[in-house]
Amino acid sequence: MTDIHALKVELSSEIEAANDLQKLDEVRVSVLGKKGRITALMKTLGGMSPEERKTTGQALNVLKDEIAALIKSQEAALKKQEMEERLATETLDISLASRPERKGTIHPISQTIEELVTIFGAMGFKVAEGPDIEDDWHNFTALNFPPGHPAREMQDTFFLPEDPREEGEKAKKLLRTHTSSVQIRNMQETMKNASQDGGPPIKTICFGRTYRSDYDMTHTPMFHQMECLFVDKDVTMAHLKGCLTDFVRSFFNLDDLPVRFRPSFFPFVEPGAEVDIGYIKKPDGSIQLGKAKEGDEQKWMEILGSGMVHPNVLKNCGIDPETYQGFAFGTGIERLAMLKYGIPDLRTFFECDVRWLSHYGFDPLERPNSATGQ
Ligand code: PHE
Repeated sequence: MTDIHALKVELSSEIEAANDLQKLDEVRVSVLGKKGRITALMKTLGGMSPEERKTTGQALNVLKDEIAALIKSQEAALKKQEMEERLATETLDISLASRPERKGTIHPISQTIEELVTIFGAMGFKVAEGPDIEDDWHNFTALNFPPGHPAREMQDTFFLPEDPREEGEKAKKLLRTHTSSVQIRNMQETMKNASQDGGPPIKTICFGRTYRSDYDMTHTPMFHQMECLFVDKDVTMAHLKGCLTDFVRSFFNLDDLPVRFRPSFFPFVEPGAEVDIGYIKKPDGSIQLGKAKEGDEQKWMEILGSGMVHPNVLKNCGIDPETYQGFAFGTGIERLAMLKYGIPDLRTFFECDVRWLSHYGFDPLERPNSATGQ
């Protein structure tokens, strides 16, 4: 028994003397490990008389528990001490500037569409949609392009394989070359529901991707168009001129922006007109939209195609041209954005360059003229 007591005193002072975690672990292994001193003593129990084994066994178990508890508390004390030392010596430099956060921007196309929705929404137009994959009938024939007529060549069309489920012109699939095909779908849809809704008026605006085989600084194989359609009784060219003039002046924020209508040909309108807006060339060669002051030369650029919906187009959609008339116009959305925001190259719109986007894109919270009403 005295041995055990002496051992306890000795081991306690060894544990106390272990002043780091590694030394403490060495002590633990030398006492409680497989070849440890207490383990060795336990092994001697087998050679003792039952009486002796009982008392020594009990005493050894108590000793083992006490030593284990001592090691545990020494370990906790050492860990605490280590943490205190680290807290006292280590510092975190919170004065270092954080990395700047990347903020996304709104693409100029999205911004421009939103501005157009705001302008036409205020005039009572609803947004219409149609498919990018069209058929020959909706893209050309219904729009009064005669079969084989050179007018079809005006637009370099991407044709797709024929659709075996359809027949004739509806089987001839293509990527729509303009959003005018949406006019047709819009008028057909209206006439389908005419028995309940009573047919026109139709007052829609459509935005969407259009496709032509062309690529240079001002043409990309995919671009966006906007299309406006108004069909009602007694619609005249005066309505078209008024609506268009209001729209371009409002879009470019120029109350006196000169607007000029020039006769032009599109198979689906009669009469047809191209619309020009006025600008001046500044001495540095750049252009400025607006009215020329005295001494400056008034210059004009074409921005859209327009006209009165051709009677054949109305008939193709089941609308009686004797009762209803309409006007329509269409234009490229990129072109509007380039002019308004001074973007020189159309191709850059689709290159997905983040530097371009952060330069020409719009802060989502501070957009000009957007639907947020700023
Ligand atoms: N669809 C014509 C184009 O793509 C534009 C247009 C639309 C012209 C409506 C007249 C009326 O060039």
